[in-house]
Amino acid sequence: MQTKKTIKIIQALKQEGKSISMLTAYDFTTASLLDAAGVDMILVGDSLSNVFMGNETTIAVTVEQMIYHAKAVMNGVKQALVVVDMPFGSYQISDSQAVENAIHIFKHSAAHAVKLEGGIEIASSVQKIVAAGIPVMGHLGLTPQSIHQLGSYEVQAKTTEAQINLMENAKALEAAGCFAIVLEKVPKTIATEIALNLKIPVIGIGAGNGCNGQVLVINDLLGMNPGFKPKFVRKYTNLHEVISEAVSAFIKDVQLKDFPNDQESY
Ligand code: KIV
Repeated sequence: MQTKKTIKIIQALKQEGKSISMLTAYDFTTASLLDAAGVDMILVGDSLSNVFMGNETTIAVTVEQMIYHAKAVMNGVKQALVVVDMPFGSYQISDSQAVENAIHIFKHSAAHAVKLEGGIEIASSVQKIVAAGIPVMGHLGLTPQSIHQLGSYEVQAKTTEAQINLMENAKALEAAGCFAIVLEKVPKTIATEIALNLKIPVIGIGAGNGCNGQVLVINDLLGMNPGFKPKFVRKYTNLHEVISEAVSAFIKDVQLKDFPNDQESY
């Protein structure tokens, strides 16, 4: 039997100098595959708004939708640590709103941790969620829930001032009790410096290989969307082509009355 990953095990990986793997999943089948392959953490990301629902941003996704997907993922997981995104609007109003929604997600999804976007401004909420017994992962750099404030999906923290600010926010999240943070789309140099300065693991996405681990959206890794080619994504396969070819072959076989054949019939 595989050992179930806990936040202590994830943190120990950083201490041992081992790199941590994390991928998103939104459904049972994908989660089962990732878990069986041995991924350390699975993120039920609010990126499901984009890649599952087809929305332009992550803003529209709701707490109940996150719980629905997290439950499906949990059904497929035996060993990975599962983190669920708290969606936009579920934690920004007050500390008590944040704690209430974190408890709701934690209780009804049975996932192991929640993730919130933001720094110093959410530190007191993080502290209170952690005090309630719920592990919290932070998320800094490019924070997609703030896309209309950021204006674009470009690389963040490019100036010295922005990098000092990023470091302060990362330290604030660690002090508030986050067990790890995600750093999205920031220069490799500052991401590496933050990883060296924090005791907790720093998981990068578009933040270079100086981080303590890497996270990718599963649809990107599998090459599901040929039109999406950011520099930080490595496509390990081309499922868009594989699926398109398989579906075209099925349509052709149906049209030719070649499927089902006698062996495939009762
Ligand atoms: O929602 C998501 O998939 C994420 C990752 C990009 C880190 O937050």
